[in-house]
Amino acid sequence: MFDFKPDPVQGKAENYRQLHNAADALTQGESDGIANMANVASLLWEFVPDLNWAGFYRMGEGASGKDELVLGPFTGRPACIRIPIGVGVCGAAAKTGETQLVEDVHAFPGHIACDAASQSELVAPIIRDGKVIAVIDLDSPNKGRFTQEDAAGIESLAAMLSDRI
Ligand code: SME
Repeated sequence: MFDFKPDPVQGKAENYRQLHNAADALTQGESDGIANMANVASLLWEFVPDLNWAGFYRMGEGASGKDELVLGPFTGRPACIRIPIGVGVCGAAAKTGETQLVEDVHAFPGHIACDAASQSELVAPIIRDGKVIAVIDLDSPNKGRFTQEDAAGIESLAAMLSDRI
């Protein structure tokens, strides 16, 4: 049985350090990327407070043969399955290869509302060999929920997962 739980009293940096270590332990040596993303989606839910959605979109191919983001393992409500590159917060992260920290999703042009409860969002790309292969997406029901400390924590997770998904 796995029992990865955050210690109750600690700062954000320590929380992300523990999340990173738990994700490292769970995914190390496992070659199935879907299984690894599923476990990390669960860990995000356990370790990062005040979320209403946490999970992955993977780079895939659309009907026209163009790249698009396709829903991967997650926790939260059912979500949009396919997102064009450059559209919404996830599409922006996939297009630019840069983390998107959005304090108010309603002010973000093209934001895709999968869950009406979402108010702020953090999306970090997972990059392998210079290409975006997936994104980690976190949604919160609170405005301004995410800070640079959250971005740094999720980026370090994204870097570790780059050859494990
Ligand atoms: N809001 C995202 C879409 C994905 S859901 O939040 C799960 C976006 O604008 O890209």
